[in-house]
Amino acid sequence: MSACCAVIGNPVAHSRSPDLHHGFAQTCGIPLHYEKILAEEDDFAHVVQAFFASGGRGLNITVPFKQRAAELADHCSEEVRLSGAANTLWHNEQQQLCADNTDGRGLVNALTAHGVTLSGQRILLIGAGGAAQGVYHPLLASGPAVLDIANRTPEKAEAIIANQGGDGRAFGLDEHVDEPYDLIINATSSGLDDSALKVPANCLAPGHSVCYDMVYGTTTPFMRWAEEQQAAAIYDGYSMLIEQARLSFSQWFGVLPPVQSYNDRG
Ligand code: ATR
Repeated sequence: MSACCAVIGNPVAHSRSPDLHHGFAQTCGIPLHYEKILAEEDDFAHVVQAFFASGGRGLNITVPFKQRAAELADHCSEEVRLSGAANTLWHNEQQQLCADNTDGRGLVNALTAHGVTLSGQRILLIGAGGAAQGVYHPLLASGPAVLDIANRTPEKAEAIIANQGGDGRAFGLDEHVDEPYDLIINATSSGLDDSALKVPANCLAPGHSVCYDMVYGTTTPFMRWAEEQQAAAIYDGYSMLIEQARLSFSQWFGVLPPVQSYNDRG
C-alpha cells in the first residue's frame, strides 16, 4: 500500500511539492501518494487531525499555516522552537504530532551544494518576516564571521536577533554599510509581487559577493539588481526548495533522497 503524504496551504495549487516528493519516492523505491490539500483558515487543525487519523504519513505546511502547525505540535525541533514556524509534520510511534522546519537547513545545504562557503564569511540577510525567521538560526549555526539583518522595518530584524541569538547588527534598508558582504540572501517577499526592493548601499562587492533569492521560478528585482551590480554569482530559491523537501522526506521515511538537478525546473 502507498504511503500518503500531502502539502496543506491556502493557496496551494502552485505547490511543486507533489512533483518533488513523487520524484524522491520513485528514486528511493517507496510507493507514495502525495496530494495538495486546500484548507480554510479556521479548519487547519481539523484537517491535520483527520489526515493523520486516516493513516497519513507526513505533511508539508505552507502559507499561511506554518505558525499554526508549530502551535499544534506535541514535539518541536529546535528550529521550530526558535522560529515559531513548522513546514513538516508527522506522527511518532506514540501517535504524537512532531514538527520540524527544514527551510533553514535546506538553505544552508543548497548554498553548500552551490559551492558557497558560510563559515567565517560576512553574511547579510535581507528581510525579517516568516521566511527570514525560519532560516536565521541555521545560518547562524553555520559559523559566519558576521550575520546581520537588514529590513524595511528594522525593529523586526532586531527582534529576530534578540529571540534567536547572535551578535549581528539589525538595520534599515536605507542605511549605508561600511564593509560589503560575501553573501547576501534576500528573504523578503518582494520577488513574489515584483515590488521594488531597496538594498542597503555598499553591501555588495562587484565580482566578489554572492547573491541568493529565496523566491524561485522568476527573476526577481533583487536578482536584477545583483546582476547590475556584477555579483560573482546569483541563485534563485529553487535549490532551497529541493533541499528543504529532501529533509522533510527524510523525516517521514528515514532516508535522504539523492540530489536531483537544480536546473531541472520542469
Ligand atoms: P514571508 O513569510 O514571505 O517572510 P512576511 O512574514 O509577510 O512574508 O514578511 C515579508 C518580508 O518581506 C518582510 O521582511 C517585509 O518587510 P517589512 O517587515 O518591513 O514589512 C519584506 N518586504 C516585502 N515587500 C518588500 C518591499 N517591496 N521592500 C522591502 N521589504 C519588503
